Amino acid sequence: MHRDVERILINEEEIRERLDFVAKKVMAEFACDGLVVVILLKGALVFAADMCRRLPVTMTVECLNISSYHGDIKTSGKVEFLDKKMPEVADKKVLIMDDILDTGLTMRAVTDALLALGAAEVRNCVLLNKRKQRAGDCEADFKAFDIDDEFVIGYGLDYQGRYRNLPYVGVMKQGDI
Ligand code: XMP
Repeated sequence: MHRDVERILINEEEIRERLDFVAKKVMAEFACDGLVVVILLKGALVFAADMCRRLPVTMTVECLNISSYHGDIKTSGKVEFLDKKMPEVADKKVLIMDDILDTGLTMRAVTDALLALGAAEVRNCVLLNKRKQRAGDCEADFKAFDIDDEFVIGYGLDYQGRYRNLPYVGVMKQGDI
């Protein structure tokens, strides 16, 4: 375990098993040939790489640079689209992949933007869903794990840009935040 991690919340095997389960659900309920997967950078990179490979459909993969956290542990509450160009999603089924649904503001903003671009249907798929009252009017369509409202790192999630490479999801030692 990394020295800055207080405890492992979800280990590698649990992640693998749940991703298999969620992928089957996505295949049964939403995925089809022509699917557009939109990955929210950078947090969803690791999760999405593992998830996409479990969805045997003809898909295109797009990435969106979104900023709401600025590397800290609290959302700024303001969702910024950092790309000059948005993906082409007109008349497509779109599956947004993100690491975590926290306030829901990011997912709400991205979903609305993709619908405004003419997407036929938009659903989301997240690794983690924080159990909390959400500011954004948005819930997870597909989720691997529900977690308590604490700051987590690893498997794509960062603190000030670090720890994304940890193969598990963990809670940081208090003194490090
Ligand atoms: P909202 O609040 O818009 O947040 O649902 C979504 C984005 O915020 C980041 N986020 C976290 N990142 N540990 C992290 O490393 C966390 O506990 C955490 N909570 C939210 C994340 O990038 C997500 O896309």
